[in-house]
Amino acid sequence: MIKRRYVLALPGAVAAAGTLAACGGDDNGGSGGSGGGGGGDSVEVFTWWAQGSEKAGLDALVEVFNEQHPDVEFVNGAVAGGAGSAAKDMLQSRLQAGDPPDTFQAHAGAELNDYIDAGQITDVANLFDEFGLRDAFPDSLVERLTVDDAIYSIPSNIHRSNVVWGSTKALTDAGIDTATPPASLDEFLEQLETLKSAGVTALSVGTTWTQVNLLEAVLMAELGAEVYSGLFDGSTGWDTPEVTAGLQKFEQMMSYTNTDRDGLDWPDATQQIIDGTAAYNVMGDWAVAAFEQAEQALGDDFVAFELPGKEKIFGFLADSFTLPEGAPHPDGAKAWLETIASTDGQLAFNLAKGSIPARTDVDTAEFSEYAQTAVTSFAEDAICSSIAHGAATSVAWLNAIADATSQFTTGATDLAGYQEALKAAADANQG
Ligand code: GAL
Repeated sequence: MIKRRYVLALPGAVAAAGTLAACGGDDNGGSGGSGGGGGGDSVEVFTWWAQGSEKAGLDALVEVFNEQHPDVEFVNGAVAGGAGSAAKDMLQSRLQAGDPPDTFQAHAGAELNDYIDAGQITDVANLFDEFGLRDAFPDSLVERLTVDDAIYSIPSNIHRSNVVWGSTKALTDAGIDTATPPASLDEFLEQLETLKSAGVTALSVGTTWTQVNLLEAVLMAELGAEVYSGLFDGSTGWDTPEVTAGLQKFEQMMSYTNTDRDGLDWPDATQQIIDGTAAYNVMGDWAVAAFEQAEQALGDDFVAFELPGKEKIFGFLADSFTLPEGAPHPDGAKAWLETIASTDGQLAFNLAKGSIPARTDVDTAEFSEYAQTAVTSFAEDAICSSIAHGAATSVAWLNAIADATSQFTTGATDLAGYQEALKAAADANQG
């Protein structure tokens, strides 16, 4: 296996960073505050970790926060909806109305540039120094948080987006050997056909953002890391035959999915694997927390492997937390940022959330068998930025991709129209 790591700042981040030179939201000399300190009695934390295993992850973090900062009241500003599907719109309304939460969840990468560009978040570079974080995170991750020497958020975790989850029972019942994962996309598609013939939902999926999650995994697998990454810096055209081939594979996969998909969020689609009513689901590794919550064991009850393709790829995304311009409780926010950056915070949170620590100095020995595979893959495999989770594309670009995908999967456009819409989205949004 060729061991290499793509520079994490490959796609949108670099392109967008170039256009952001004169922007930035730091007007307070990087004081890590919004017009000064104060407001240390509470902190409103805005996330979309509102339910189920995601809420359990947040709860684990809050427990550490309460130990580390007993005088600061945690106020939960979570808005339900996977991948921030409802939260991001609500956040934008609040930011535009001058009513920011004290800190909010945002993805490292191109999505962060949206907030920087709009002057909505402040430079927290001084907190990196104060908390001793300069060497705690991989350089490649810090690059994604940095624009013009300013650092705009503190990462809490790293998730992998291109994972296939399978029900051992549903697969075995259909005669599929779960000991050896399929070696290629074509082999995976053959299995889907076998499962369909056996009368089980072959591939569960949910609403539009989960379909975009599937799309990105298929494109990574079909194109390989370098060509996939080129989709975001302009070196791979969205109108090329190789993208057409990737979209055809996506179309084929969608044909094996549940018809009630548009009404389901990720926990519902993953639940079908937990229940064994569907065989496979492609989802980020927050899903493992749902299997664990249901007391299912890797190997016995469920399987997990990367969507196979040209090469081994880690579909990358990282959650991070910001200090918004005008936050009413900047000192409360600093306390929160200190906890999420701490080794104790990252250990407790990531154990519960299914992600791996962003810090490189957290001992992962007690992490699950699945998480160990993520740690190894992140260290060894090619890294590709997630589309559905703000690493590769700005919010506007992602919205355009999501709209095009929804039009396609609901039958409003054909494959050629889909590809044209994706090309138009790139043309309109590439930096
Ligand atoms: C992602 C987020 C993850 C997880 C997932 C599903 O965007 O980074 O932490 O919450 O959405 O909601």
